[in-house]
Amino acid sequence: MPIRSGAELRDAYLEYFRTLPDFPHPVVPSAPLVPPDDPTLLFTSAGMVQFKPLYSGDVELPYPRAASCQKCLRAGGKGSDLENVGKTLRHHTLFEMLGNFSFGDYFKRESIRFAWEFCTSPQWMALSKERLFPTIYGPAPEEIDREAESYWREVEVANPLVPLDASENFWGPAGDTGACGPCSEVKFFLGTDEELAAVRALANSGEAGLRELGRRIVEEGDLFLEIWNMVFPQFDQQRDGSRPLLKHKGIDTGAGLERMTVALNHASGGARTPYETDLLWPITTAAAQSLGVAYQRLGEGPETPEAARRRLAVNAVADHTRALVFCLAEGITPSNVGRGYVIRRIQRRALRFASLLGKDEPFMADLYDAVVQAAGAAYPEIKKNPDFIRRALRQEEETFLRTRERGQKLLDELIAQALDSGAKTIGGDDAFKLWDTYGYPVDLTKELAEDAGVAVDMGGYEATRARQKAESKKTWKGAAVGESADALDAEAERIGATDFLGYAYAPEPEQGRLLGIVAAGAAAQEIGEGQEGFLILDRTPFYAESGGQVGDTGRIATTHGEALVLDTQKTPHGTIYHKVRVERGVLRAGDDAESAVDLARRRAIVQHHSAVHLLQNALKRVLGDHITQQGSYVGPGYARFDFTHAEGVKPEQLRAAQDLVNELIMDDHEVRTDVLPIEEARRKGAIAPFGEKYGAMVRVVQMGPSVEFCGGTHLAHTSQAGQLRIVSESSIASGVRRIEVAAGLAAARAGGAEQFEIVAPLQLLLAAKGPEALDRVRALGDSVRAQEREIARLKQELAKAKLGDVAALAVALEGGARLVAVRMDGLDGNELRAVAESILEKLGDDGVAVAAGVSEGRVNIVAASGKNASQRYPAGKIVNALAQPLGGKGGGKPTLAQAGAKDAEKLGEVMDGATALLGAMG
Ligand code: SER
Repeated sequence: MPIRSGAELRDAYLEYFRTLPDFPHPVVPSAPLVPPDDPTLLFTSAGMVQFKPLYSGDVELPYPRAASCQKCLRAGGKGSDLENVGKTLRHHTLFEMLGNFSFGDYFKRESIRFAWEFCTSPQWMALSKERLFPTIYGPAPEEIDREAESYWREVEVANPLVPLDASENFWGPAGDTGACGPCSEVKFFLGTDEELAAVRALANSGEAGLRELGRRIVEEGDLFLEIWNMVFPQFDQQRDGSRPLLKHKGIDTGAGLERMTVALNHASGGARTPYETDLLWPITTAAAQSLGVAYQRLGEGPETPEAARRRLAVNAVADHTRALVFCLAEGITPSNVGRGYVIRRIQRRALRFASLLGKDEPFMADLYDAVVQAAGAAYPEIKKNPDFIRRALRQEEETFLRTRERGQKLLDELIAQALDSGAKTIGGDDAFKLWDTYGYPVDLTKELAEDAGVAVDMGGYEATRARQKAESKKTWKGAAVGESADALDAEAERIGATDFLGYAYAPEPEQGRLLGIVAAGAAAQEIGEGQEGFLILDRTPFYAESGGQVGDTGRIATTHGEALVLDTQKTPHGTIYHKVRVERGVLRAGDDAESAVDLARRRAIVQHHSAVHLLQNALKRVLGDHITQQGSYVGPGYARFDFTHAEGVKPEQLRAAQDLVNELIMDDHEVRTDVLPIEEARRKGAIAPFGEKYGAMVRVVQMGPSVEFCGGTHLAHTSQAGQLRIVSESSIASGVRRIEVAAGLAAARAGGAEQFEIVAPLQLLLAAKGPEALDRVRALGDSVRAQEREIARLKQELAKAKLGDVAALAVALEGGARLVAVRMDGLDGNELRAVAESILEKLGDDGVAVAAGVSEGRVNIVAASGKNASQRYPAGKIVNALAQPLGGKGGGKPTLAQAGAKDAEKLGEVMDGATALLGAMG
């Protein structure tokens, strides 16, 4: 049975090497896309990546040779092919690479023999020898790799060997360091038979013709398809640039499975491009269908520019979707940093191609099944979490699509301006805005601008980014990081934003990588038992304090140690850092770490957070729409909500609000969160907390009638809050009230505290329960008031009795008036008034009565003047004259007035001088 499909070819290749006489190759499974031990590499970009330590001799060789089919991702960093996808027919971000490897075992001779045999033998690929053009390393005639050349001649190639320079025929290292060396590639010519004849004639026309062919091979890569690359790794690239010889020099072969399948199909007229092979075709057709465009296979109809453009755009979407599914299957999710940034870029680039075809809504999740159909048998890992993968695809699409339209408008304007002005450059500030506000990764902006003939000021972009970072840094320095602030800054800058994974009601423990440690005020490689410090991971379920909600606590563990998380905070650019104390062992930078939030505490926090949202809604309904949030605190034990309101909230209003909240809790509303463009959020009536700044997109949390902007974590359903209890209401500033509440267990406990610490002891004291206790308190109040009245009456009686025949005490004043002044301490103002009035009754219209005394440390003075006497001796004037030396004053009518004063000590003196004082007045 001839080999036809990509899937068969994969098996055949591994079978060929597994069973090679004298050189059987162990077949090694594909390594993950995230290289486990190579921090210099974002992704596994070649089959040899997992074997790097075998070439360098860093580990003992488990086998002298190996074969594999490796999933590779060439996007982001050195050697990225991202920008070629959608421009050529042969490039991919994710692709499968067949490889055979020798570690100090066989070398060029065998490697060339194996390649030729597998490609041309009728038993295997049976490719036409005339269409195969091997190339060799040869920047100049004297540098040609003569050794490789001689071995190629041994296998009787049909065409002359094409020498290429180092930019083509020197490979590696993958990442910054490791195995590299010259190589020899095999190109498969895809043109017609006539074209082939012309090319072969050129190849045989001498040295200049060969060089010319070399130039064409490089330029016309879709026609001269590179199917096989044999690297002869000999050097071990070091960080310092030096290149000592490799311990185990050998062979590193890479043969792109998709391209090999195209070559395989050539004779039979099957797939003409990698996108038409069984490895991608289900995805290509599903993409075309989702995008609503016809896909014209190469050579199927007249090759119009439109058909070609459409084909390339669909290819890019198919490629990018496949890559995203593979990445998501390994838990790499879109973010603003590192690998997450690369895949965000891939996805946004795919959406751009979709948009060019007129598709401006989410669709990628619909292609998931096609990806599984094409690749699920060979890579079962992509079948494991279909819901997660579909959701993640959709979420990212929704996020970007919401702002893209405006971003695109801005970009179009910027391009038009750049062209109009002749500057042909987009400024760094604008490129930064496109990223920061509209989510256009700068490389995407650059690519789109370049397509229109406009450059992007990348230096300016970096400068703006740095300035923004520096500015916002100022604002978080105040956080409680003490001596570690600078080191944390630097680490945050280096590592970038953290993926926050903890929005769920009860977030699961998450696997991540420990990327940064700050201990004793400095960046550190490790932190040991008993030490306190800060940890930064690439991803975390820990919520960092923000918007009033306190930071999470919990545990972070690696295989070597475990730390208690005491608090979680973040920088303005979203680097989350965990304040920790190491409980056991050592935690090292680069370690895989599991982060588990203290769920009981988290639950209590979100109960309070959701309850505060409901409270705001209830207060607006009870007090009116004018109330505006001024601040809030949300912790596990209680929450407080500060808001504008001119007066104290009455108990019945508090009770009504509490009832409304508890109804919303009992109604068990689902809590929904969406990320929306800010205008749409406002249209929905979402309440935005006072004084906060928002970007173009906002997170909106909705539960029942409550809709708020909020970045915090929440319940899944309102009933999970249990209950709400308003604990207190007070004023914190003019026109600003504070309500403190307890929710969930804390509410039950607050109820309990009142019950057990106040109500129960009171009942005991009163020897009564329930309504009876209330009656008892009311009765006690009545009887106290009655007794007070009785005491006042008795005091007056006593005072009158003491006065006896006051008339006899009267002193004559000028003008026929008669004065009686008495001092009676312990009587309040009212009681003194009664005394003065009763004196005046006895003195008649010519009388003047003064009663003064000290009660509870204060002086009270009352004067009463009879009808005649009040002309000359008005009561108001009298009390003021007496109170003034005592630091007081008073007022009233000419016939009756009262004053108060503080200086009780001098009252005796003043009273002694009263007659003289009045005499002076007359
Ligand atoms: N490492 C080489 C490549 O990726 C050969 O496997 O092309």
